[in-house]
Amino acid sequence: MSKTYKIAVVAGDGTGPEVIGEGCKVLQAAAQKFGFKLDLAPQDIGGARYLRTGEVLPDAVLADLKRVDAIYLGAIGHTDIKPGILEKGILLRIRFELDQYINLRPVHLFPGVECPIKGKGPKEIDYCCIRENSGGLYTGIGGLSRQGTRDEVAVQNMVYTYAQVERCLRFAFEYARAHGKQARGVGAVNKLALVGKSNVLTYMYELWNRVFAEVGAEFPDVQREYYHVDATCLYMIASPEMFDVIVTENMFGDIITDLAAITQGGLGIAAGGNINPKGVSMFEPIGGTAPMWTGKNAINPLAAIGAGAMMLAQLGETQAAHAIEGAIAATTPKMKSQMANQMGFTTTQLGDLVAGQI
Ligand code: IPM
Ligand code: MG
Repeated sequence: MSKTYKIAVVAGDGTGPEVIGEGCKVLQAAAQKFGFKLDLAPQDIGGARYLRTGEVLPDAVLADLKRVDAIYLGAIGHTDIKPGILEKGILLRIRFELDQYINLRPVHLFPGVECPIKGKGPKEIDYCCIRENSGGLYTGIGGLSRQGTRDEVAVQNMVYTYAQVERCLRFAFEYARAHGKQARGVGAVNKLALVGKSNVLTYMYELWNRVFAEVGAEFPDVQREYYHVDATCLYMIASPEMFDVIVTENMFGDIITDLAAITQGGLGIAAGGNINPKGVSMFEPIGGTAPMWTGKNAINPLAAIGAGAMMLAQLGETQAAHAIEGAIAATTPKMKSQMANQMGFTTTQLGDLVAGQI
């Protein structure tokens, strides 16, 4: 009997359904080739349901999501709905309730993809960002007081517990040991860089740096580095080849991974995973709903397809994951651009091309 994985598919809004459709096509091709089954179950959550019924993420749906093997997500956000309602109510709620405390965002320039940085290619743009995904400014702790006066105060707290920092850094060290540049045969050492702001956020980085050294002592084979987040942005452009694995807190990770995405060809190709190493993980293209391109068969599905490959890797189907990555690498050199509507192919043509390579 071949193995069957149950996958909840949250295609979501905007171009989400189009890119996820191509992703599912490629995933099924890989499943067939490598002898496992995927039970892809579409979930009715997103802007359309909210506008129809007022429901964002019903508890019953959330309970179902806790019982699947993985979640495959397109994009969340709707032009007719106030920003924040769906993002917080769906995307962030799933991340928190399923305790997906790692956001894994590989930064990898595929062959033939134009890099906006002069003189940099696939050899230089080849690292990975691990974003802490459960704490920091995203906990929503804070508030407003003295409203209606000129002394009104807004507070939004950056909050971390020792346990949150420790589990994130442990994952990062393990990841660097297994997937660092030395482990992959492209560098002399495996490096893990902690990115922070210890010159200003002194309490926060007293904790992060201490735990970094503490956990790092168990990983003598991983070289430790520390960079301030502002300097990191500069280095990501000036000398991206210096990075191997980066680990950082939630908000810094949100910001630097958009910068990283453009250096790898843009949001059309950047994939990520929200990971709970012992629970249910969720994989998504980093880009949003792209309302301008919705329904035009013009959006780039490669980020969603790449997210599908990451999902298979997490499920333990490494060969199938590698096959999808190989098929993406065989497709990118044929494309004119990674930008929507300029690819030289339609969304569905690209899905067919990648699926055909498997
Ligand atoms: C991301 C997004 C989300 C985030 C938004 C949509 C809430 O920017 O996944 O990077 O801030 O985490
Ligand atoms: Mg973001």
